[in-house]
Parts: sequence; C-alpha cells; structure tokens
Amino acid sequence: MKYDPFATFINDVESMRRTIPSEAELVQHVASRLAHLNRDTHWLPVSARQPSDEGYVQHVLHVAPDGGFSVCALVWKPGQSTPVHDHVAWCVVGVYEGVEREIRYRLDRSGASPCLVQCGTCTATAGEAAAMLPDGKDIHSVINAGDSVAISIHVYGADLNKLGSSINRRFDHLPIRGTAPTAL
Ligand SMILES: [Fe+2]
Repeated sequence: MKYDPFATFINDVESMRRTIPSEAELVQHVASRLAHLNRDTHWLPVSARQPSDEGYVQHVLHVAPDGGFSVCALVWKPGQSTPVHDHVAWCVVGVYEGVEREIRYRLDRSGASPCLVQCGTCTATAGEAAAMLPDGKDIHSVINAGDSVAISIHVYGADLNKLGSSINRRFDHLPIRGTAPTAL
C-alpha cells in the first residue's frame, strides 16, 4: 500500500493521545511530529492550498471521530493576518510553506481599562513548529511576513466541526500599547 504521510501523522497523534496523559508533554510531541510531517513538501492536497483575496482561509483536513483533536491548513496571501486571539484548547502550529510571524501579547488589567501589551515576536519558516497551551499566555496574532503565499498546519485539541471559529477568542477590541516587540 502506498505510504500516506498525513494518514500516518493522524495515526501517530491518536497514539500520542492514548499514551501521553500530560497535555504539556503531548503538545511538544505533536509539534515535533508535525515538524517532521512538514519536511515533506508534497503531502498537502492542492485544494487545501488555495488562498483568498478576502483574508486568510481555513481548510479543515481532519476531525478525530471522538472530536478530541482537529487539523486544518491556514493559507495566507502576503500581508494577510489574523485578529488578536487565543485558543480555547491546545494548539500546535507548523509552517508548511512560506514565512509567518507571530506577535505575542499579554493582557494588562492594571489600568482603568484592560489593554494588550506586545511582548515579543517569532518568525517561522517551513518545517518549524510550535505549541501553545490555553493558559492565558497564548494571546497572539499571525501575519504572512513573506512575499509569497504562506501555509501553516494547525492541530487543535478540540472539535473544529463543533466549534468553528469559536476555537479562537478574539481580543482585537482592546487597545494595544507597547513598543516594537522583540524576538521571543
Ligand atoms: Fe492562533
């Protein structure tokens, strides 16, 4: 039978979920496995690589039968970005193609009204992966920082079919203060 890189990745993530009880450890293992998957530059179907002029696009690739995790491809044209958000579940992100820049924020409630403070940036290229836990420290936005289409693969510890865009909690209604972010 022909080797299917993505099907093998899904099987491996299922196995990790069964054998790694700690979410903090699980996301690190999934990130390492996703980075390995993305060293193969051919596995993503052409239909899941399509961008849009309207903004970044989400293509759902897989939802686990029990809803325990989901995988999607996000596709960005140059300059397109997300709102500021965090996630209601753990998330692992691996760049498949292009260059993405993440900007991290912390929620500052010390003043009369809450605001966001930029705390750092991280630029990632194809084959790199990172993990986030829903610990309140994962507020971020992402931009395609290159001059060609960027694609990243996102693994969420939740059911995307049920949650849809509610996987993200948006913070873009808050003012942002702080100087230019430094590298994380
Ligand atoms: Fe995100």
